[in-house]
Amino acid sequence: MKLCMVGTGYVGLVSGACFAETGQQVVCADVNVEKIKVLEDGGIPIFERGLDDVVRRNVSEGRLGFTSNVTEAIADATAIFVAVGTPPRGDGGADLSAVDAVAETVAKHATRECVLVLKSTVPVGTNARVRNLVKDAAHKIHVVSNPEFLKEGDAVNDFLHPDRVVIGCDEDDDFAKSTMSRLYHPVCLSKERIVWMDPASAELTKYVSNTMLAMRISFMNEIAGLCEKVGADVHSVRHGVGSDSRIGPKFLYAGPGYGGSCFPKDVKALVHTAREHGLELELAATTDRVNDRQKGVIFRKLKAAMPDGIRGKKVAVWGISFKPRTDDIRESPSLTLIDALIAEGAEVVAHDPEAAENASERYEGKVTFATDPYVATEGADALCLLTEWRLYQNPNFEKVKELMRSPLLIDGRNVWSGYGLRSQGFTYEGIGVRGS
Ligand SMILES: NC(=O)c1ccc[n+]([C@@H]2O[C@H](COP(=O)([O-])OP(=O)(O)OC[C@H]3O[C@@H](n4cnc5c(N)ncnc54)[C@H](O)[C@@H]3O)[C@@H](O)[C@H]2O)c1
Repeated sequence: MKLCMVGTGYVGLVSGACFAETGQQVVCADVNVEKIKVLEDGGIPIFERGLDDVVRRNVSEGRLGFTSNVTEAIADATAIFVAVGTPPRGDGGADLSAVDAVAETVAKHATRECVLVLKSTVPVGTNARVRNLVKDAAHKIHVVSNPEFLKEGDAVNDFLHPDRVVIGCDEDDDFAKSTMSRLYHPVCLSKERIVWMDPASAELTKYVSNTMLAMRISFMNEIAGLCEKVGADVHSVRHGVGSDSRIGPKFLYAGPGYGGSCFPKDVKALVHTAREHGLELELAATTDRVNDRQKGVIFRKLKAAMPDGIRGKKVAVWGISFKPRTDDIRESPSLTLIDALIAEGAEVVAHDPEAAENASERYEGKVTFATDPYVATEGADALCLLTEWRLYQNPNFEKVKELMRSPLLIDGRNVWSGYGLRSQGFTYEGIGVRGS
């Protein structure tokens, strides 16, 4: 079966390469000519663990190709996946212009009966709208919703070993059902993972999953604030709460707020969808507000620890990506901190093993990027840890102390709380942890 992946970003490139890995013939198409050129030249435009191997193997074995000619790519495909961006609009809703553009191209240029699979995260009702856009096409186009749940940083593994594959299509649409079953059969060999449902439920499932995870994080961030007031330790609380099998241990980590291209926009979009239907989702709306406030927590802690002000101070920032093992900086709490520091007149020296290039494009000379984490701390008045990359988890603190002008550590990920740093002469602040 020929498969076309339209949109070759974090989701499209991983999904396209992984479908090729399972034996499909895949072409990944994108309007970003530079991105396609990088791929055609054998490069990988994003950092994602294990992706380079999968891409290179499938290109060399002839199952995976790239093109910036979307029209040509979709022409004779049996399955056309839409994996384009759906960024937030000013009002919190999702911008669906790229999804619509792809649907219109498919309606005009498909040369055979095919499934059009909405893999991008799209608000409930989009499947129905897209059906309307393609209803007059020369060939029958079956519109299916198949939201993606992969995690950046572990995306290849997630795609090939998913917890579940959610597919929304009409119950009586045998063409769509058999096409989707065949495509996902190789990742369902050990057990059935496809959860079939109607398109509207599939669209909503994606937003509800992300909002529920975001809610856990925001709740624990609020509890971390309470821990600081009452002298409790959020690590202990997390262990105690998370070992209840009804609750489970995941997504209970207090920190500088969630970021990335999904949680912030998806929570806002869910709230927006509900409002369009006259409903106020108060828990979701509060989750979003709590997160916005939490993203300022490191800056507030720095301010409190520097009574003579931040202006003119040198602040080292370790970690720019919104989480480890990705170069994605979209909505990263690190950016909120760096923006605030620049606005306050601090000198910022940042380090990140993978995301520095993306960040340097954003800051255009306003931030210095060190190629070594220790170099970033030279003469610093504070060191803030924002992303828990492994290389920051157990650094040589003696060296850090020697290099810094004043030994102030703000640990946004609570990874250093048990290291006895206060007894080594540091001023240590975590998020809701007592520290030592
Ligand atoms: N990043 C994640 O972890 C993740 C996880 C699950 C779902 N999603 C969802 O998947 C979708 C894609 O996310 P992403 O992170 O891969 O975005 P991305 O920005 O990395 O990639 C989107 C790509 O689509 C391309 N594009 C835009 N308009 C196009 C068009 N008309 N024709 C062809 N290509 C076009 C862009 O050039 C870009 O390369 C979003 O809806 C997102 O919410 C993302």
